[in-house]
Amino acid sequence: EIISVRGREIIDSRGEPTVEAEVELAGGAVGRASVPSGASTGIFEAHELRDEDALRFHGHGVLKAVGHVNGTIADIVRGMDASRQADVDRAMLAADGTENKTVLGANAILAVSLAAARAAARAMHIPFYRYLGGTMAHILPVPMMNILNGGKHASNNIDIQEFMIVPVGAHSFREALQWGSEVYHALGVLLRKRGLPTAVGDEGGFAPDLRNDEEALQMIVEAIEASGRTTDEIGLAVDAAASEWYADGQYTLPKRKQRLKTDELIGYLKELTRRFPILSIEDGLSDRDWSGWKTLTQELPIQLVGDDLFVTNTRRLRKGIGERAGNSILVKINQIGTLTETFEAIDMARDAGYTAVISHRSGETEDTSIADIAVAAGTGQIKTGAPARTERTAKYNRLLRIEEELGEAAVYAGKSVMWYRK
Ligand code: PGA
Ligand code: ZN
Repeated sequence: EIISVRGREIIDSRGEPTVEAEVELAGGAVGRASVPSGASTGIFEAHELRDEDALRFHGHGVLKAVGHVNGTIADIVRGMDASRQADVDRAMLAADGTENKTVLGANAILAVSLAAARAAARAMHIPFYRYLGGTMAHILPVPMMNILNGGKHASNNIDIQEFMIVPVGAHSFREALQWGSEVYHALGVLLRKRGLPTAVGDEGGFAPDLRNDEEALQMIVEAIEASGRTTDEIGLAVDAAASEWYADGQYTLPKRKQRLKTDELIGYLKELTRRFPILSIEDGLSDRDWSGWKTLTQELPIQLVGDDLFVTNTRRLRKGIGERAGNSILVKINQIGTLTETFEAIDMARDAGYTAVISHRSGETEDTSIADIAVAAGTGQIKTGAPARTERTAKYNRLLRIEEELGEAAVYAGKSVMWYRK
Protein backbone atom coordinates (compact mmCIF):
# COMPACT_ATOMS: atom_id res chain seq x y z
CA GLU A 1 0.00 0.00 0.00
CA ILE A 2 1.34 3.42 -1.01
CA ILE A 3 1.64 5.68 2.02
CA SER A 4 3.57 8.59 0.57
CA VAL A 5 4.72 10.10 -2.71
CA ARG A 6 7.35 12.77 -2.96
CA GLY A 7 8.61 14.61 -6.01
CA ARG A 8 11.65 16.80 -6.52
CA GLU A 9 13.43 18.75 -9.23
CA ILE A 10 16.86 17.31 -10.12
CA ILE A 11 19.11 17.90 -13.13
CA ASP A 12 19.80 15.61 -16.06
CA SER A 13 22.94 14.86 -18.11
CA ARG A 14 22.61 18.15 -20.01
CA GLY A 15 22.22 20.09 -16.78
CA GLU A 16 18.52 20.65 -17.47
CA PRO A 17 15.93 20.15 -14.72
CA THR A 18 13.85 16.98 -14.63
CA VAL A 19 11.48 15.16 -12.27
CA GLU A 20 12.40 12.57 -9.66
CA ALA A 21 9.85 10.77 -7.49
CA GLU A 22 9.91 8.54 -4.44
CA VAL A 23 7.08 6.23 -3.52
CA GLU A 24 6.96 4.73 -0.04
CA LEU A 25 4.92 1.67 0.91
CA ALA A 26 3.37 0.74 4.25
CA GLY A 27 6.02 -1.94 4.90
CA GLY A 28 8.79 0.65 4.54
CA ALA A 29 9.91 -0.17 0.99
CA VAL A 30 10.83 2.91 -1.05
CA GLY A 31 11.10 3.14 -4.82
CA ARG A 32 12.85 6.02 -6.56
CA ALA A 33 12.82 6.93 -10.25
CA SER A 34 13.71 9.86 -12.45
CA VAL A 35 12.65 10.90 -15.92
CA PRO A 36 14.75 11.43 -19.07
CA SER A 37 14.24 14.14 -21.70
CA GLY A 38 14.73 14.35 -25.48
CA ALA A 39 16.21 17.02 -27.75
CA SER A 40 14.95 15.77 -31.12
CA THR A 41 11.52 15.32 -29.60
CA GLY A 42 8.74 13.93 -31.79
CA ILE A 43 5.75 16.25 -32.22
CA PHE A 44 3.38 13.42 -31.26
CA GLU A 45 5.03 12.67 -27.92
CA ALA A 46 3.23 12.94 -24.59
CA HIS A 47 3.57 16.38 -23.02
CA GLU A 48 6.65 17.22 -20.98
CA LEU A 49 5.44 19.86 -18.54
CA ARG A 50 7.90 22.74 -18.05
CA ASP A 51 7.36 25.87 -15.96
CA GLU A 52 7.99 28.42 -18.74
CA ASP A 53 9.17 30.75 -15.99
CA ALA A 54 12.05 32.61 -17.59
CA LEU A 55 13.51 33.47 -14.20
CA ARG A 56 14.37 29.85 -13.42
CA PHE A 57 16.45 27.46 -15.59
CA HIS A 58 15.70 29.61 -18.67
CA GLY A 59 12.07 28.54 -18.46
CA HIS A 60 12.88 24.81 -18.29
CA GLY A 61 12.09 24.31 -14.60
CA VAL A 62 9.76 21.46 -13.65
CA LEU A 63 8.33 22.73 -10.37
CA LYS A 64 4.79 22.57 -11.76
CA ALA A 65 5.23 18.87 -12.56
CA VAL A 66 6.80 18.29 -9.16
CA GLY A 67 3.83 20.11 -7.62
CA HIS A 68 1.49 17.65 -9.37
CA VAL A 69 3.50 14.71 -8.02
CA ASN A 70 3.24 16.07 -4.47
CA GLY A 71 -0.37 17.20 -4.88
CA THR A 72 -2.89 15.65 -7.25
CA ILE A 73 -0.96 12.45 -7.96
CA ALA A 74 -0.01 11.78 -4.33
CA ASP A 75 -3.64 12.26 -3.34
CA ILE A 76 -4.99 9.75 -5.85
CA VAL A 77 -2.39 6.98 -5.52
CA ARG A 78 -2.09 7.09 -1.72
CA GLY A 79 -3.72 3.95 -0.34
CA MET A 80 -3.41 2.07 -3.65
CA ASP A 81 -1.60 -1.27 -4.04
CA ALA A 82 1.70 -0.40 -5.77
CA SER A 83 1.89 -3.86 -7.33
CA ARG A 84 -1.30 -3.16 -9.29
CA GLN A 85 0.59 -1.15 -11.89
CA ALA A 86 -2.26 -0.87 -14.37
CA ASP A 87 -4.57 0.49 -11.67
CA VAL A 88 -2.02 3.03 -10.47
CA ASP A 89 -1.31 4.17 -14.04
CA ARG A 90 -4.97 4.30 -15.01
CA ALA A 91 -5.80 6.39 -11.95
CA MET A 92 -3.19 8.95 -12.97
CA LEU A 93 -4.40 8.92 -16.58
CA ALA A 94 -7.96 9.50 -15.42
CA ALA A 95 -6.90 12.37 -13.16
CA ASP A 96 -5.09 13.96 -16.09
CA GLY A 97 -7.92 13.33 -18.51
CA THR A 98 -6.14 14.43 -21.68
CA GLU A 99 -4.81 12.55 -24.70
CA ASN A 100 -1.24 13.79 -24.29
CA LYS A 101 -1.03 14.18 -20.50
CA THR A 102 -0.93 17.94 -20.83
CA VAL A 103 -2.53 18.66 -17.45
CA LEU A 104 -0.29 16.75 -15.03
CA GLY A 105 2.61 16.29 -17.45
CA ALA A 106 4.02 12.99 -18.72
CA ASN A 107 7.17 13.73 -16.69
CA ALA A 108 5.17 13.86 -13.43
CA ILE A 109 3.13 10.74 -14.29
CA LEU A 110 6.10 8.64 -15.46
CA ALA A 111 8.19 9.42 -12.37
CA VAL A 112 5.44 8.02 -10.14
CA SER A 113 4.60 5.12 -12.47
CA LEU A 114 8.22 3.93 -12.33
CA ALA A 115 8.78 4.70 -8.65
CA ALA A 116 5.66 2.75 -7.68
CA ALA A 117 6.90 -0.29 -9.62
CA ARG A 118 10.32 -0.02 -8.03
CA ALA A 119 8.80 0.20 -4.57
CA ALA A 120 6.67 -2.90 -5.23
CA ALA A 121 9.74 -4.83 -6.44
CA ARG A 122 11.61 -3.77 -3.29
CA ALA A 123 8.76 -4.88 -1.08
CA MET A 124 8.81 -8.32 -2.75
CA HIS A 125 12.62 -8.48 -2.54
CA ILE A 126 13.01 -9.31 -6.21
CA PRO A 127 15.13 -7.59 -8.87
CA PHE A 128 13.32 -5.04 -10.98
CA TYR A 129 13.64 -6.98 -14.24
CA ARG A 130 12.12 -10.06 -12.63
CA TYR A 131 9.35 -8.04 -11.01
CA LEU A 132 8.40 -6.63 -14.43
CA GLY A 133 9.14 -9.69 -16.55
CA GLY A 134 8.58 -12.72 -14.36
CA THR A 135 10.85 -15.64 -13.52
CA MET A 136 11.42 -16.49 -17.18
CA ALA A 137 13.00 -13.13 -18.08
CA HIS A 138 16.48 -14.07 -19.27
CA ILE A 139 17.26 -12.41 -22.64
CA LEU A 140 20.10 -9.87 -22.56
CA PRO A 141 19.71 -7.24 -25.28
CA VAL A 142 22.11 -6.46 -28.10
CA PRO A 143 23.34 -2.93 -27.38
CA MET A 144 23.15 -0.34 -30.15
CA MET A 145 26.02 1.90 -29.11
CA ASN A 146 26.10 5.41 -30.50
CA ILE A 147 29.75 6.24 -31.04
CA LEU A 148 29.48 9.19 -33.42
CA ASN A 149 26.96 12.00 -32.92
CA GLY A 150 25.55 14.50 -35.40
CA GLY A 151 22.25 16.28 -36.00
CA LYS A 152 20.74 18.02 -32.99
CA HIS A 153 22.99 16.12 -30.59
CA ALA A 154 26.22 17.74 -31.71
CA SER A 155 27.41 21.06 -33.04
CA ASN A 156 29.34 19.58 -35.96
CA ASN A 157 28.57 19.35 -39.70
CA ILE A 158 27.01 15.84 -39.72
CA ASP A 159 23.28 15.56 -40.55
CA ILE A 160 22.56 12.00 -39.40
CA GLN A 161 21.95 12.15 -35.66
CA GLU A 162 23.38 8.82 -34.53
CA PHE A 163 25.93 6.35 -35.86
CA MET A 164 25.79 3.14 -33.86
CA ILE A 165 27.69 -0.13 -33.66
CA VAL A 166 25.74 -3.33 -33.05
CA PRO A 167 27.82 -6.28 -31.81
CA VAL A 168 25.44 -9.00 -33.00
CA GLY A 169 28.24 -11.59 -33.18
CA ALA A 170 29.22 -11.44 -29.50
CA HIS A 171 28.44 -14.42 -27.29
CA SER A 172 27.36 -12.53 -24.20
CA PHE A 173 26.36 -9.01 -23.22
CA ARG A 174 29.68 -8.65 -21.43
CA GLU A 175 31.57 -9.44 -24.63
CA ALA A 176 29.33 -7.12 -26.66
CA LEU A 177 30.12 -4.24 -24.31
CA GLN A 178 33.84 -5.02 -24.41
CA TRP A 179 33.81 -4.97 -28.21
CA GLY A 180 31.87 -1.72 -28.17
CA SER A 181 34.39 -0.08 -25.87
CA GLU A 182 37.28 -1.33 -28.02
CA VAL A 183 35.76 0.07 -31.22
CA TYR A 184 34.94 3.36 -29.48
CA HIS A 185 38.56 3.80 -28.47
CA ALA A 186 39.83 2.64 -31.87
CA LEU A 187 37.68 5.38 -33.39
CA GLY A 188 39.18 7.88 -30.96
CA VAL A 189 42.66 6.90 -32.13
CA LEU A 190 41.66 7.29 -35.80
CA LEU A 191 40.24 10.74 -35.12
CA ARG A 192 43.35 11.89 -33.27
CA LYS A 193 45.56 10.59 -36.09
CA ARG A 194 43.70 12.87 -38.47
CA GLY A 195 43.97 15.78 -36.10
CA LEU A 196 40.23 15.77 -35.42
CA PRO A 197 38.70 16.64 -32.03
CA THR A 198 37.53 13.84 -29.74
CA ALA A 199 35.05 15.93 -27.77
CA VAL A 200 31.74 14.08 -27.41
CA GLY A 201 28.07 14.82 -28.08
CA ASP A 202 25.03 14.43 -25.83
CA GLU A 203 25.02 10.64 -25.96
CA GLY A 204 28.75 10.18 -25.51
CA GLY A 205 29.70 9.61 -29.15
CA PHE A 206 32.47 11.62 -30.79
CA ALA A 207 31.30 14.71 -32.67
CA PRO A 208 33.98 15.68 -35.20
CA ASP A 209 33.50 17.71 -38.35
CA LEU A 210 33.90 15.33 -41.29
CA ARG A 211 33.60 15.63 -45.07
CA ASN A 212 30.14 14.11 -44.99
CA ASP A 213 27.95 11.44 -43.38
CA GLU A 214 29.48 8.71 -45.56
CA GLU A 215 32.91 9.48 -44.16
CA ALA A 216 31.49 8.92 -40.67
CA LEU A 217 30.32 5.43 -41.68
CA GLN A 218 33.64 4.73 -43.37
CA MET A 219 35.61 5.70 -40.26
CA ILE A 220 33.46 3.48 -38.06
CA VAL A 221 34.08 0.51 -40.36
CA GLU A 222 37.80 1.28 -40.11
CA ALA A 223 37.53 1.43 -36.33
CA ILE A 224 35.77 -1.95 -36.23
CA GLU A 225 38.57 -3.48 -38.32
CA ALA A 226 41.29 -1.69 -36.37
CA SER A 227 39.91 -3.26 -33.20
CA GLY A 228 40.33 -6.70 -34.74
CA ARG A 229 36.65 -7.42 -35.51
CA THR A 230 34.75 -7.98 -38.72
CA THR A 231 31.59 -6.24 -39.87
CA ASP A 232 29.82 -9.61 -39.56
CA GLU A 233 30.54 -9.53 -35.86
CA ILE A 234 29.74 -5.85 -35.44
CA GLY A 235 27.20 -4.26 -37.76
CA LEU A 236 26.14 -0.64 -38.07
CA ALA A 237 22.89 1.17 -37.30
CA VAL A 238 21.91 4.77 -37.86
CA ASP A 239 19.22 7.09 -36.53
CA ALA A 240 18.65 9.71 -39.22
CA ALA A 241 16.06 11.54 -37.06
CA ALA A 242 14.67 12.72 -40.41
CA SER A 243 11.60 14.37 -38.86
CA GLU A 244 14.00 17.17 -37.98
CA TRP A 245 14.68 17.68 -41.71
CA TYR A 246 11.09 17.69 -42.91
CA ALA A 247 9.04 20.71 -43.91
CA ASP A 248 6.49 21.29 -46.66
CA GLY A 249 6.82 17.74 -48.01
CA GLN A 250 10.58 18.03 -48.49
CA TYR A 251 13.71 17.12 -46.60
CA THR A 252 16.33 19.79 -46.04
CA LEU A 253 19.53 18.38 -44.59
CA PRO A 254 20.51 21.47 -42.61
CA LYS A 255 24.22 20.97 -42.33
CA ARG A 256 25.03 20.00 -45.90
CA LYS A 257 22.26 22.37 -47.06
CA GLN A 258 20.78 19.85 -49.43
CA ARG A 259 17.11 19.48 -50.37
CA LEU A 260 15.69 16.04 -51.11
CA LYS A 261 12.28 14.69 -52.09
CA THR A 262 11.09 11.55 -50.28
CA ASP A 263 12.13 9.30 -53.18
CA GLU A 264 15.56 10.87 -53.29
CA LEU A 265 16.07 10.37 -49.57
CA ILE A 266 14.97 6.74 -49.87
CA GLY A 267 17.49 6.36 -52.71
CA TYR A 268 20.19 7.85 -50.51
CA LEU A 269 19.39 5.47 -47.64
CA LYS A 270 19.43 2.50 -50.03
CA GLU A 271 22.78 3.64 -51.35
CA LEU A 272 24.18 3.83 -47.80
CA THR A 273 23.01 0.27 -47.06
CA ARG A 274 24.66 -0.95 -50.27
CA ARG A 275 27.98 0.59 -49.33
CA PHE A 276 28.02 -0.08 -45.60
CA PRO A 277 27.02 -3.01 -43.34
CA ILE A 278 23.93 -1.25 -41.96
CA LEU A 279 21.52 -3.55 -40.11
CA SER A 280 19.00 -0.99 -38.92
CA ILE A 281 17.80 2.50 -39.80
CA GLU A 282 15.73 4.55 -37.35
CA ASP A 283 13.55 7.45 -38.50
CA GLY A 284 14.90 7.31 -42.03
CA LEU A 285 11.89 9.45 -42.93
CA SER A 286 9.66 11.95 -41.14
CA ASP A 287 6.84 11.20 -38.70
CA ARG A 288 4.47 12.97 -41.12
CA ASP A 289 5.54 11.02 -44.21
CA TRP A 290 3.43 7.84 -43.93
CA SER A 291 3.43 7.12 -47.66
CA GLY A 292 7.21 7.49 -47.78
CA TRP A 293 7.52 5.04 -44.88
CA LYS A 294 5.41 2.49 -46.77
CA THR A 295 7.67 2.73 -49.81
CA LEU A 296 10.83 2.60 -47.71
CA THR A 297 9.58 -0.54 -45.96
CA GLN A 298 8.81 -2.25 -49.27
CA GLU A 299 12.14 -1.36 -50.79
CA LEU A 300 14.65 -1.80 -47.99
CA PRO A 301 14.78 -5.27 -46.37
CA ILE A 302 16.49 -4.30 -43.11
CA GLN A 303 15.22 -3.30 -39.68
CA LEU A 304 13.37 0.04 -40.02
CA VAL A 305 12.70 1.55 -36.62
CA GLY A 306 9.97 4.11 -35.96
CA ASP A 307 10.88 6.52 -33.15
CA ASP A 308 9.23 9.90 -33.84
CA LEU A 309 6.92 7.95 -36.16
CA PHE A 310 5.35 5.80 -33.40
CA VAL A 311 6.32 7.69 -30.21
CA THR A 312 5.71 4.49 -28.16
CA ASN A 313 2.01 5.12 -28.75
CA THR A 314 -0.28 2.18 -29.57
CA ARG A 315 -2.58 4.34 -31.68
CA ARG A 316 0.25 5.40 -33.97
CA LEU A 317 1.79 1.92 -33.93
CA ARG A 318 -1.55 0.35 -34.90
CA LYS A 319 -1.78 2.70 -37.85
CA GLY A 320 1.80 1.84 -38.85
CA ILE A 321 1.17 -1.89 -38.64
CA GLY A 322 -1.97 -1.49 -40.75
CA GLU A 323 -0.11 0.48 -43.38
CA ARG A 324 3.05 -1.67 -43.21
CA ALA A 325 5.15 1.34 -42.28
CA GLY A 326 8.43 0.23 -40.71
CA ASN A 327 9.01 -3.13 -39.03
CA SER A 328 10.29 -2.09 -35.61
CA ILE A 329 9.43 0.35 -32.82
CA LEU A 330 11.73 2.43 -30.65
CA VAL A 331 10.42 2.31 -27.09
CA LYS A 332 10.95 5.39 -24.92
CA ILE A 333 9.15 5.41 -21.60
CA ASN A 334 8.78 9.18 -21.47
CA GLN A 335 7.29 9.42 -24.96
CA ILE A 336 4.16 7.80 -23.58
CA GLY A 337 4.46 8.38 -19.83
CA THR A 338 3.45 5.16 -18.01
CA LEU A 339 4.91 1.68 -17.64
CA THR A 340 1.56 0.11 -18.52
CA GLU A 341 1.33 1.88 -21.86
CA THR A 342 5.00 1.14 -22.56
CA PHE A 343 4.39 -2.60 -22.20
CA GLU A 344 1.19 -2.33 -24.27
CA ALA A 345 3.23 -0.88 -27.13
CA ILE A 346 5.85 -3.65 -26.82
CA ASP A 347 3.12 -6.33 -26.82
CA MET A 348 1.41 -4.83 -29.85
CA ALA A 349 4.71 -4.76 -31.73
CA ARG A 350 5.49 -8.35 -30.86
CA ASP A 351 2.03 -9.56 -31.94
CA ALA A 352 2.51 -7.87 -35.32
CA GLY A 353 5.98 -9.33 -35.86
CA TYR A 354 7.67 -5.98 -35.31
CA THR A 355 10.89 -5.85 -33.33
CA ALA A 356 11.27 -3.43 -30.41
CA VAL A 357 14.30 -1.47 -29.27
CA ILE A 358 14.23 -0.14 -25.70
CA SER A 359 15.77 3.34 -25.68
CA HIS A 360 17.22 6.10 -23.54
CA ARG A 361 16.84 9.82 -24.34
CA SER A 362 19.60 12.26 -25.20
CA GLY A 363 19.01 13.87 -21.79
CA GLU A 364 19.37 11.11 -19.17
CA THR A 365 19.77 10.60 -15.45
CA GLU A 366 21.41 7.91 -13.34
CA ASP A 367 18.13 5.95 -13.41
CA THR A 368 18.73 2.49 -14.91
CA SER A 369 15.11 1.31 -15.29
CA ILE A 370 15.37 0.83 -19.06
CA ALA A 371 18.03 -1.87 -18.60
CA ASP A 372 15.62 -3.88 -16.47
CA ILE A 373 12.75 -3.15 -18.84
CA ALA A 374 14.78 -4.50 -21.79
CA VAL A 375 15.41 -7.80 -19.99
CA ALA A 376 11.87 -7.97 -18.62
CA ALA A 377 10.30 -7.47 -22.03
CA GLY A 378 12.87 -9.71 -23.70
CA THR A 379 12.96 -7.54 -26.82
CA GLY A 380 16.64 -8.32 -27.38
CA GLN A 381 17.71 -4.78 -28.29
CA ILE A 382 18.62 -1.67 -26.31
CA LYS A 383 19.98 1.66 -27.41
CA THR A 384 21.53 3.69 -24.64
CA GLY A 385 24.39 5.69 -26.09
CA ALA A 386 28.14 5.34 -26.22
CA PRO A 387 30.07 2.99 -23.95
CA ALA A 388 31.13 6.18 -22.15
CA ARG A 389 29.54 8.90 -19.93
CA THR A 390 28.08 7.66 -16.69
CA GLU A 391 24.40 8.30 -17.51
CA ARG A 392 24.88 5.91 -20.49
CA THR A 393 27.19 3.37 -18.85
CA ALA A 394 24.91 3.14 -15.81
CA LYS A 395 22.47 1.22 -18.02
CA TYR A 396 25.15 -0.97 -19.61
CA ASN A 397 26.68 -1.71 -16.22
CA ARG A 398 23.27 -2.60 -14.85
CA LEU A 399 22.94 -5.14 -17.69
CA LEU A 400 26.33 -6.63 -16.75
CA ARG A 401 25.03 -7.19 -13.23
CA ILE A 402 21.78 -8.71 -14.48
CA GLU A 403 23.71 -11.06 -16.78
CA GLU A 404 25.93 -12.10 -13.89
CA GLU A 405 22.96 -12.68 -11.61
CA LEU A 406 21.15 -14.81 -14.22
CA GLY A 407 24.29 -16.88 -14.68
CA GLU A 408 23.70 -19.94 -16.85
CA ALA A 409 20.15 -18.86 -17.56
CA ALA A 410 21.24 -15.68 -19.35
CA VAL A 411 20.96 -15.70 -23.14
CA TYR A 412 22.49 -12.93 -25.23
CA ALA A 413 20.05 -12.08 -28.02
CA GLY A 414 22.76 -11.89 -30.73
CA LYS A 415 22.00 -12.19 -34.42
CA SER A 416 18.55 -13.69 -34.03
CA VAL A 417 16.96 -10.39 -33.04
CA MET A 418 17.68 -8.71 -36.38
CA TRP A 419 14.85 -10.33 -38.27
CA TYR A 420 15.44 -8.07 -41.18
CA ARG A 421 19.11 -8.81 -41.41
CA LYS A 422 20.43 -8.82 -44.97
P1 PGA B 1 16.21 12.39 -28.31
O1 PGA B 1 17.08 11.51 -29.30
O2 PGA B 1 16.24 11.74 -26.98
O3 PGA B 1 16.92 13.72 -28.36
O4 PGA B 1 14.83 12.45 -28.91
C1 PGA B 1 17.08 10.12 -29.29
C2 PGA B 1 16.52 9.57 -30.56
O5 PGA B 1 16.13 10.34 -31.48
O6 PGA B 1 16.43 8.36 -30.69
ZN1 ZN C 1 15.50 8.52 -32.77
